[in-house]
Amino acid sequence: MSQTKLFEPFKLGPITLPNRLVMAPLTRNRAVPPGMVPSPLATDYYGQRASAGLLITEASQVSQQGQGYQDTPGIYSKEQVAGWRKVTDRVHEKGGRIFIQIWHVGRISHDSLQPNGSKPVAPSAIRAKGKTFVNGTFTDECARRRFRRHRNPRRQRLSARPVRQGRHQ
Ligand SMILES: Cc1cc2nc3c(=O)[nH]c(=O)nc-3n(C[C@H](O)[C@H](O)[C@H](O)COP(=O)(O)O)c2cc1C
Repeated sequence: MSQTKLFEPFKLGPITLPNRLVMAPLTRNRAVPPGMVPSPLATDYYGQRASAGLLITEASQVSQQGQGYQDTPGIYSKEQVAGWRKVTDRVHEKGGRIFIQIWHVGRISHDSLQPNGSKPVAPSAIRAKGKTFVNGTFTDECARRRFRRHRNPRRQRLSARPVRQGRHQ
């Protein structure tokens, strides 16, 4: 792509980007615990970058269970939505466009981030071998929760109860 084109508008579905510079989602670990609310730093950070054609936010969990790293913001509580509103207002004031990236990290998590310190929940039966960033350091991912399996899908839905750990690890 020539440099000239980089600064030409681009039609992306219903919106027109004034240029073709798109900011990739970048996890910043700056949300404010315990509510994991986007902080004033996030408002400044995204506002400062509003001249890009499009900003994509850091990935943001859709539930507490969906969090996998320390201090990542959520978008499931009123307080978090209000925090994001400040971000989007700032970006819009400066003429920018912003999309949020949402995630549920599945097995890439740690019990210290999970509701009541329980095990992470994921579709895969395999324990992740990587590390996640929690408590200021890189830590092994912990075992995920397992659920009872039923042939009948209705019974499966009704019995989403974790099986005692140990037995499956
Ligand atoms: C510090 C850091 C945080 C990142 N956070 C996210 C994220 O929240 N969501 C995502 O999809 N990608 C994330 N990425 C990946 C980047 O958005 C991007 O895809 C990648 O860095 C691009 O190029 P590369 O393949 O040349 O590294 C992150 C990357 C870095 C270095």
